[in-house]
Amino acid sequence: MMLKAAVDGLQVKPDGIYVDGTLGRGGHSAAILAKLTTGRLYAFDLDETALVESRPRLAAVSDRFTLFHANFKDMRDVMGQADVTAVDGILLDLGVSSPQCADPARGFSYRAEARLDMRMDQSQPLDAYAIVNQWPAERLAAIFREYGEEPFAGPIARHIVSRRQQGPIVTTADLVEVIRQSLPDRVLSRKGHPAKQVFQALRIAVNDEMGNLGQALEQGLTLLAPSGRMAVISFQSLEDGMVKATFRKASQPPYIDRHIPLRQDEIPQPDFRLITAKPIMADSHEQEANHRSHSARLRIIERRDV
Ligand SMILES: C[S@@+](CC[C@H](N)C(=O)[O-])C[C@H]1O[C@@H](n2cnc3c(N)ncnc32)[C@H](O)[C@@H]1O
Repeated sequence: MMLKAAVDGLQVKPDGIYVDGTLGRGGHSAAILAKLTTGRLYAFDLDETALVESRPRLAAVSDRFTLFHANFKDMRDVMGQADVTAVDGILLDLGVSSPQCADPARGFSYRAEARLDMRMDQSQPLDAYAIVNQWPAERLAAIFREYGEEPFAGPIARHIVSRRQQGPIVTTADLVEVIRQSLPDRVLSRKGHPAKQVFQALRIAVNDEMGNLGQALEQGLTLLAPSGRMAVISFQSLEDGMVKATFRKASQPPYIDRHIPLRQDEIPQPDFRLITAKPIMADSHEQEANHRSHSARLRIIERRDV
């Protein structure tokens, strides 16, 4: 339903140009591609495996697509190199994919033992191991607080730094153990995994997810052609907050000094209009079938046709 809502929300035109910034296993891309006749789809992913595995799935639908092993934050430049300066729709389905999460070797999950990694792009030098073993306590505490909303950010960060003196913290299980030792019993006895927030924070920091999203929203809005739409599905409140604020700002009229007398038709109009005043969420049926959809929020914006 979320997939359908996002693809329907883009109002795909058969001859349009579309960007899927988060190819993953190609579910959304295949649905967009199926609606194209003379149009073209450009899809991005940081994860080489996603590109390799999605290519045949898309090829079974149509050959009207191009894949980029690139960061969606660079979409304007990458599309420019492909001689595309305006597009009819952009989709971002944020976060890690189910196959990334399910692969224990990638180190995204606190439930499976693996070397601390969490990179979406496996060619990137920075990984969770480097952050956990090299960053100073203040910097660790700041990301646990900001990206994980972890109330015990300070104690966990200090505990990590003191534990490092005995040797590196190598695996997800080592880190879970350090986190457990940093938390009071009353917190450990609560429902939910005690490492959840720290793992979320590390993943966001390793992949610079907030920085990427900020840049992608800015670039995406400038890439949209008149009547072009951008649809963003986010899974955590920090991302959704950034999407909400950016879309709201873009759809507000430009500031004008109220002392300047203007006729009604001279009042400048905003360049964009919100399609979703409130985010679209998965219905209860989908939430039951797919746990990840619980926190999914879809927001859509459109460039006005002037
Ligand atoms: C939730 S999955 C997308 C699932 C996809 N919509 C589907 O239908 O299969 C997110 C994907 O986006 C990729 N990704 C995350 N951040 C990215 C970025 N900044 N640039 C490019 N790809 C990114 C991840 O590697 C992952 O494969």
